[in-house]
Amino acid sequence: MRDVDTDAVCELDDARPGDLLVIKSGGRKAFVQWQAAFAEVAPGLDVRRWGDPALDPSAITHALVWDPEPGALARLPSLRVIFGAGAGVDAIITDPELPLHIPLVRMGVDGAAQRMGEYVCWAALGLLRNQRRLALSQAAAKWDYFEPEFTAPERVVGIMGLGVMGTRSAVMLQGLGFPVIGWSRTEKSVPGVRSYVGDAGLDGFLAAADILVVLLPATEATRGLIAAPLLAKVKPGTGLVHAGRGTQLVVDDVVAALEAGQLGGAVIDVFEPEPLAADSPLWAHPKITVTPHCASLPSRRERAVYVADAMAAHRRGEELPNLYDHARGY
Ligand code: NAP
Ligand code: GLV
Repeated sequence: MRDVDTDAVCELDDARPGDLLVIKSGGRKAFVQWQAAFAEVAPGLDVRRWGDPALDPSAITHALVWDPEPGALARLPSLRVIFGAGAGVDAIITDPELPLHIPLVRMGVDGAAQRMGEYVCWAALGLLRNQRRLALSQAAAKWDYFEPEFTAPERVVGIMGLGVMGTRSAVMLQGLGFPVIGWSRTEKSVPGVRSYVGDAGLDGFLAAADILVVLLPATEATRGLIAAPLLAKVKPGTGLVHAGRGTQLVVDDVVAALEAGQLGGAVIDVFEPEPLAADSPLWAHPKITVTPHCASLPSRRERAVYVADAMAAHRRGEELPNLYDHARGY
């Protein structure tokens, strides 16, 4: 993918006349930023706001969406490509009328994997150094001296989901000295990372990890996975970093595991529903760090470049990148 820091403009001069991209991601204020980003990177492209009453639905050829209303995409007769505004497209595929014959491109901006790697490294180091305890002590003006029990080379990080996000996180964690293992549906060969596969590999994977990092897509198979039965199989005191999707987490079971010492601490970025309710006990829990689904969201400009590049490539007859696979569910 193009380096987003270059000044290059996408090759939309050869745009098929009539290409029209409609956007539903981030609301009205965000749309102004989307428009500015596309005006810069793809000035030839007609970009409109989702729900614009002046817009003829039959003119829409491309859609960039996070959570379209169910049935809405099916009512766009000229739609050629759907772009997900994120790597996870769960808020799109839950649409029972989703037009399955139209390709759905998951956001695959390189900077997103870098940002996720940074988040995962930050969270793993935070668990290693008990960042939550330090933050609470600081808030109480308390000089709470303690020594970390372990160094990075003594803690195995187990990444659940060794895809785009997980693989980059694995490499970056190794750079900090953490031994890394991974769990995925199919076997992987990431240098230095032992690959555990599917149901058969799960127990061995859980027994080997000291910090679990969840970077799985939201599917039927991963729904409610991070729950009591799985947590009973981890080593006592395991750390949890959860940045996949909120639907994968059974919050009460995670809290119970933290209180029993089965989990040593947790850093959680994604919730169901979002935003996390103001009265949720998670906010104040002494062993939980809450972040507001900010682990990895690339800028609108980065995403505009990705979409414009993919549209130009598609127009030249090339494959679309990072396609959602309906059979796999991600
Ligand atoms: P990806 O490249 O498709 O990777 C998904 C990984 O999960 C693959 O390794 C896949 O295995 C594995 N997997 C899927 N279902 C599985 C199952 N049932 N059992 C075991 N492994 C399974 O996706 P990605 O781009 O890395 O993104 C992953 C997810 O991260 C997204 O779907 C989204 O939910 C989340 N995310 C969150 C944020 C955030 O800011 N919090 C940002 C970006 C993404 P195979 O490789 O064998 O297929
Ligand atoms: C963010 O959560 C994404 O899926 O990109």
